[in-house]
Amino acid sequence: MTVSSTVPKKAVDRAAELRRELESHNYRYYVQDEPSVSDAEWDRLFHELVDLETRFPALVSADSPTQRVGMAPQSEFAEVTHRLPMLSLANAFSEDDIRNFDRRCREGLEVTEVEYACEPKFDGLAVTLIYVDGIFVQGATRGDGAVGEDVTANLKTIRAIPSRLRNDHAVDVPAPAMFEVRGEVLMLKKDFLALNLRQRERGGKIFVNPRNAAAGALRQLDPKLTQQRPLTFFAYGIGSTVEATDGVNLVRTHAALLDLLHEYGFRVAPIRAVACGVEGLQSYYAKVGGTRAELPFEIDGVVYKVNRFDWQEKLGYVSRAPRFAIAHKFPAEEATTVLQDIEVQVGRTGAITPVARLEPVFVGGTTVSNATLHNEDEVRAKDLWRRDTVVVRRAGDVIPEVARVASQGPRQKSDWFDMPAQCPQCGSAVVRLEGESAARCTGGLFCPAQRKQALLHFAQRRAMDVDGLGDKLVEQLVDQALVRSPADLYRLGLTTLAGLDRMAQKSAGNLLAGIEKSKYTTLARFLFALGIRHVGEATARDLANHFGNLDAIMNAEAAALLDVNDVGPVVAESIAQFFAEPHNREVVEQLRACGITWTEGAPEMRRAGNVSTEPAGPFAGKTVVLTGALTAMSRDDAKARIEALGGKVAGSVSKKTDLVVAGAESGSKLDRAQELGVMVWDEAEFLRHLQGKQI
Ligand code: IVH
Repeated sequence: MTVSSTVPKKAVDRAAELRRELESHNYRYYVQDEPSVSDAEWDRLFHELVDLETRFPALVSADSPTQRVGMAPQSEFAEVTHRLPMLSLANAFSEDDIRNFDRRCREGLEVTEVEYACEPKFDGLAVTLIYVDGIFVQGATRGDGAVGEDVTANLKTIRAIPSRLRNDHAVDVPAPAMFEVRGEVLMLKKDFLALNLRQRERGGKIFVNPRNAAAGALRQLDPKLTQQRPLTFFAYGIGSTVEATDGVNLVRTHAALLDLLHEYGFRVAPIRAVACGVEGLQSYYAKVGGTRAELPFEIDGVVYKVNRFDWQEKLGYVSRAPRFAIAHKFPAEEATTVLQDIEVQVGRTGAITPVARLEPVFVGGTTVSNATLHNEDEVRAKDLWRRDTVVVRRAGDVIPEVARVASQGPRQKSDWFDMPAQCPQCGSAVVRLEGESAARCTGGLFCPAQRKQALLHFAQRRAMDVDGLGDKLVEQLVDQALVRSPADLYRLGLTTLAGLDRMAQKSAGNLLAGIEKSKYTTLARFLFALGIRHVGEATARDLANHFGNLDAIMNAEAAALLDVNDVGPVVAESIAQFFAEPHNREVVEQLRACGITWTEGAPEMRRAGNVSTEPAGPFAGKTVVLTGALTAMSRDDAKARIEALGGKVAGSVSKKTDLVVAGAESGSKLDRAQELGVMVWDEAEFLRHLQGKQI
């Protein structure tokens, strides 16, 4: 590190020494579970470093242990496009499934025996961590697999995540310059119990299981809150890397990779093994299943991965999961309870779904009181009547289901479930088309239930992201006929909103600001927001990237849509039909007329698969204002960097500003930003985002 010449060499050396010592004690404590100093000694070293850094601020470095808590709260998480998609695993539930998996691997590789690396399947949250020159610079959640959220500040508070890789001479294989580690953030069972105890004493929220508690902690906008909920991290793989020397593999097997990750300073699965053949896998499964209760963290199965990387590569991927790995899940937990009622719900597309209302029951780590029954056929096949006692089943992250009747209830006429002939919300006829399992309300957007769902879909965070528009408000807006189509949202005035139940001048103003802000979006989000059947986030993104602009998509024939990655005939037909409908085209035009604008997709820039591309990042399509003095670069340089990353730099702060970067001695622009509730970053935050983007 080069530090300004005004800092005495003694201080520079001592700070480096303290950092090394503290990180090494951290490693012994959090990764190896073997504390090497007392808490008091650790605190003494830490405070000595804080003192030094306070006296000589130039000494502060991003990887200093003092920086684990230092970051300011954010107003939202930036999006991060993963350099390599974060995929999921196929599930296996039986010995047969495992036999088939092993057979597919052997046949694909044309060998008689395959060696597998086996580890537990952690029941937490997947994250990816990026290290540049050995220093942790950015971490993100999985999100939808292609785009996640930047939770760097929160991840920095997790002491089991090294801020600097242990990349020294003790390690045989040095990490590449850019190194991406993937794994799971968890809350240990004991920490979960202690947290809930504290919450109960304080009258706070009680978490249903360690995974929910961990998810809540990781999604805090203020890292100080994350830090109060003890989290840990286990590494289970790597993402993209930039090798120092082209084509050099770090190691040749997954088992060796886990050992290496441990050497770099990460926790890895404690009960990992290498096994061959179905018998080997089954015996590992049985062994881990037997110790599950004693493990310090929750697991919901085990994972088998073909051990050799060259073989993994040869087997490749199918859709969004690898062919070379599988999750062998533990059996679902079951419990019995009373099926109090069967009601119906009207979905966004009019599908009428029977829903089981259950006497609350604790199963598979959560309390279950509702479960979807999918459709009428399912209710018949399971012969479910109101007031029956039923078996409820839940496996890990899978949604709960009513498995079967345990014992029949009184079974009077009123206990029988009939699909209503009229929509319970709008009275329109309910029809069931031939070949479809779902019954549908024919009311379309005339049906308030469909309208509400469509509006909530439109406004959700991953779509137009209208801050402050929750279901209670949507309910009122639709019921009072203030909003009929999404475009009406943009015509609402302050007085109307302030007159709604539970709203006042200030909250109405905030909502208007949220609506206004949502006008600036991306083509992919806009497409997703429209709620076209079968067009989820990933498809919307693929469409935006392929066509580049909305008109091309609106005018594309089904055949042209088929060229888009992962779009098959059903999806293509659904998109073409949507835009063939004059009413839908009109809504799009109205939205445009309301001033909704988006950054267009970049055609052919990001085809699916493993091609890594420039991340969309926090500046794409954003208007940024620079104020105050920056120390690391000139204003002009900062402007050039933001523009290179797709942002626009403006001279003054207005409602249209997305972000203000405030250097030292910022004046009126900073005040104005705070007044308008515009996101503000200090220089350190700004540099951190630039750093992540340079890779
Ligand atoms: S490997 C291609 N190993 O399971 C995906 N995943 O369904 C590679 N998970 O999102 C993942 N423990 O969050 C892997 N030992 C383990 C795991 C594990 C838990 C989660 C992970 C992933 C999901 C896949």
